[in-house]
Amino acid sequence: MMKRRVAILISGRGSNMAALIRAAAAADFPAEISLVISNKADALGLERAKASGVNTLVIESKPFGKDRAGFEKVLQAALDQHGIELICLGGFMRLFTAEFTKAWYGRMLNIHPSLLPLFPGLDPHGQALRAGVKLSGATVHFVIPETDAGPIVMQGAVPVSDYDTADTLSERILEVEHRIYPEALRLLAIGKVRIEGDVCKTDGSGPSENFLVAPVVG
Ligand code: GAR
Repeated sequence: MMKRRVAILISGRGSNMAALIRAAAAADFPAEISLVISNKADALGLERAKASGVNTLVIESKPFGKDRAGFEKVLQAALDQHGIELICLGGFMRLFTAEFTKAWYGRMLNIHPSLLPLFPGLDPHGQALRAGVKLSGATVHFVIPETDAGPIVMQGAVPVSDYDTADTLSERILEVEHRIYPEALRLLAIGKVRIEGDVCKTDGSGPSENFLVAPVVG
C-alpha cells in the first residue's frame, strides 16, 4: 500500500497531532505523518512529535508579521521538499492567504471544536456556553479562505451540561476530536471523500443509529 504523505501543522499542545500520529502508526493506515511543522518554536507538540520519531520543522511566523505570503513561501518549499500530499491543521493558529488555501483545496483539513457552522473563530467553547446550546462537538472540514469554514467531512457531538465550563466542555470535545480526525484523514487518504459544490460526501456512508439528547433529567 502506498501511504499518502501528510504534514501536520501545529502551534501548541498538539493533542490532535498525537492522535493522528498514533492512528497512522497502524500498518493498515493509508497515510503516514511525514512531517510536523510548527510556526512556534516553543510549541509543546514538537516534543511529542520528536518522541514519536516524526520529522519536525519550525518555521517561525512571527518574523513575517503581516507578510503571510512570505511565510507561506517558506512553508510551501518545506512541503515540496518532503513530497507532502495532504495537510492536517491541528490547532494551527495562523491564518492563510486565500491563494494558499486555494492551492491546497481538497487536500488540507482542519479541526475545530464546535459543530460548524456554529461558533467559528476564537473561544468556541465560551461561544457555545453563552449561546446555551445543549449539544456541541467537533468538526473536521476542508480549508477554504474563510476561517473555520469549508466542506464538512465529519462531525462528532457531545452533550453540554449546565455545570460545564469552557475547560470541562473543551475536554469532552477533545475526546471526540481525537476520534474523528484520524477517521476523516483515513477516508480522505483512501479516496472515499469527495467535494460536491460546497458540501462533502463520503462513499458508502450512512447515518449512525444513535440519537444524542440533552439534557436528561434523572
Ligand atoms: C483543538 O481543540 C482544535 O480543535 C482547536 O485548537 C485545539 C488545539 O489543540 N482548533 C481551533 O480552534 C481552530 N480554529 P491541540 O493542539 O491539542 O490539538
